[in-house]
Amino acid sequence: MVGSESRYRAFLDTLRQDHLRRDLTSVVVRDARTLEAGGRSYVNLASNDYLALRFHAALIERAVEWAGRYGTGSGASRLVTGNLDLFDGIEAKVARLKNKPAALVMASGFQANAAVLQALFDRTVLGAEPLVFADRLNHASMHFGCKAAGVRQQRYRHGDALHLAELLTQFQGDSRPKFILTESVFSMDGDVAPLPEIARLARAHQATLIVDDAHATGILGDGGAGLSDGADIVIGTFSKALGSFGAYVASSIALRDYLVNRCSGFIYSTALPPPVLGAIDAALDLVPGLDAERSLVAGLAADFRAAAKERGYDTGASATQIVPLIVGTAEAALKLGGELRQAGLWATPIRPPTVPQGTARVRLAFTAAHANADIDRLLEVLGQAVVPEPDKAASL
Ligand SMILES: Cc1ncc(COP(=O)(O)O)c(C=O)c1O
Repeated sequence: MVGSESRYRAFLDTLRQDHLRRDLTSVVVRDARTLEAGGRSYVNLASNDYLALRFHAALIERAVEWAGRYGTGSGASRLVTGNLDLFDGIEAKVARLKNKPAALVMASGFQANAAVLQALFDRTVLGAEPLVFADRLNHASMHFGCKAAGVRQQRYRHGDALHLAELLTQFQGDSRPKFILTESVFSMDGDVAPLPEIARLARAHQATLIVDDAHATGILGDGGAGLSDGADIVIGTFSKALGSFGAYVASSIALRDYLVNRCSGFIYSTALPPPVLGAIDAALDLVPGLDAERSLVAGLAADFRAAAKERGYDTGASATQIVPLIVGTAEAALKLGGELRQAGLWATPIRPPTVPQGTARVRLAFTAAHANADIDRLLEVLGQAVVPEPDKAASL
């Protein structure tokens, strides 16, 4: 350990020099809009609780009720200790929301991508290493799942259906099973994948389309159903707009049964605890009726984006509640994040390797807990900050 410890320290030193070191900052959360740190209050612009559900009375009540009735833990994996009947109701609700025959609850979004993709791409079951066509900016957990399966990804340019079509055509005569893997809304850019084109390509090339709907479920689509129309398999999380924790896979019944038998992250992991299931269950009941919240959030983000662009900020291709301010270097992102923090606004600088080199940014996420006054304040502070020169940013 002594020798390795010095290497870990050296790694951290290098990160610090490169403005890439991350540290945990303790905060106290009072409600969906505000948090406190170091005795000061901040408007929280960094949370994925897009519908502000985590403090909703219905979620808290059902979480408390289910904790009281079923206990605080689930005791073992669903195959070992018996499958709490609570899962049946939740999985039926998810399947209905996603318009799929079946759903399976998993432990977390990261774990679902890591474990489900590993199981889906299992070459011993498929008979060959599958061909996996993946958006270059897919979430780390999707890359992790591919890596765990030992699959080499064919990566297409971000959001570029033409490039995907070229790659698929290159492998047209290849009989190996094909999969296309994308997020619907990209977590660090807030842009939307061209899903209708991608779904068309999937059909034309007999590829299975897997969509990670983490940042759309609840907050986008009809009745908050997300943006996964046309996907064969949808993976998503309850940790963002649904205000809780845990994840799901929505699919055919056969695929669900396959995962129960083959997905090690499902088989060998303790089931989600009853209070968490209570919060998920209540959120699923509320989501279809939250159109007013969805349009409030969309309006806040659209107004902010237009005004930020007017002030010279680069918001990329954002079209959703996630709006990045792309500034280029990690140092510039830290500086802008620091200025916002000074002004009582909590927004996180996002740096490589989470985003590609030269595209460091401050990521803003708007929620139903925000109001126009928060946007005004944000714009006021951004108006006083120095906007990094775009070509300087692009060259880094
Ligand atoms: C696209 C995407 N997929 C999966 C995850 C992981 O979800 P969870 O936070 O539930 O582990 C995230 C969030 O971090 C995400 O942005």
